[in-house]
Amino acid sequence: MTDEFDNNHGPTANAPVGTSTREDLARPEPAEEKWGFEQALVAPVGSLAFLQLSNNDRLIAAQKYGGLRESTGEVEISFFGMCAFRITTPKGLEIVIDPWRNAPGFIGYWFLVDFPITRCDIGMSTHAHGDHDALHRLDAGMILDRMGGTFELGDVKITGILDKHMCEPQNDLYTSEMVLQMFGKQTRPPGETMEWCNSMFLIETGGLRILHWGDNRQNPPDDVWDMIRDIDIALLPVSDDGHILTPRWGVKIAEKLNAKVVIPHHYYIEGLNAPNAGWELPAVQFTRMLDHTFLDSHTVRLSPEKIKDYKQHVMYFGEHTVTEIFKWTPPDFLGPNAPLPEPARAWERFKPAKGDHY
Ligand SMILES: [Fe+2]
Ligand SMILES: [Fe+2]
Repeated sequence: MTDEFDNNHGPTANAPVGTSTREDLARPEPAEEKWGFEQALVAPVGSLAFLQLSNNDRLIAAQKYGGLRESTGEVEISFFGMCAFRITTPKGLEIVIDPWRNAPGFIGYWFLVDFPITRCDIGMSTHAHGDHDALHRLDAGMILDRMGGTFELGDVKITGILDKHMCEPQNDLYTSEMVLQMFGKQTRPPGETMEWCNSMFLIETGGLRILHWGDNRQNPPDDVWDMIRDIDIALLPVSDDGHILTPRWGVKIAEKLNAKVVIPHHYYIEGLNAPNAGWELPAVQFTRMLDHTFLDSHTVRLSPEKIKDYKQHVMYFGEHTVTEIFKWTPPDFLGPNAPLPEPARAWERFKPAKGDHY
């Protein structure tokens, strides 16, 4: 661990997990006592899987035959916008990570476009924030929500690495203190709620190690770093406004991961993200800080051979998204205002007669 990662943002890096002992943690607390007003506002809707017309035949095929087709030798990565990606394994398993939704209430109105209902085999969410957790928009064979530990099926192995959400952002947009003041939410451990927990996903397939960072804090503890060394493709939430990671942190983390390829996400896309919802900028400046390619479509196909000579090479999807974006431009005004009629003076009917009062 270099000092840079330790010093700047001290309180969270190696903080104890809460103030509880391991024995305390083994005794679950009664949750209902803590659930209150905010929870009561959210409609009691659970998984919508019972509505799905699809079934788990593809997963059974993966279980039985190790995949759905002969290997193509390449991993396909498609960008939906925000933090959402589809990763298709060489043998055809489709994994969709972090679909978005508008959360209840005005402050959660972040998107101009709903996440498209999307068929996939494995649906995943890194954490319980609206810009990452719309698992109900996935027509998925199975769901791995905020997972930890290891999962294997067909030609993919997924490791969920449990850590904490960004809690001390280094941008000019907001601080943890502001979040506490505005929402009464403690974002820093110890004592933060589930919203401020995050799982990073290490997806190993086709000879590539792909890491989805989610909104993880920039300074996880050493044991977490040990689980994410030597990444081939790092999907990092970097934007030029630093809503989660600033460009400077993006570079540092990419280097520390020894990533060959870096794909930014969590940046503003006109027509997809509502403006002024806590983000403002794309990730163009960040892209230019390192070797880079501005991609011209929403999908890339990569293999170990294709990226073997890359070192922190940014592949930037920009506004190329699987999601259809409708950009609305207000019509130009063509001509003068229509003349207004004379005031009707209708009130004169009610004018008091001589000697009366209003
Ligand atoms: Fe988040
Ligand atoms: Fe986020």
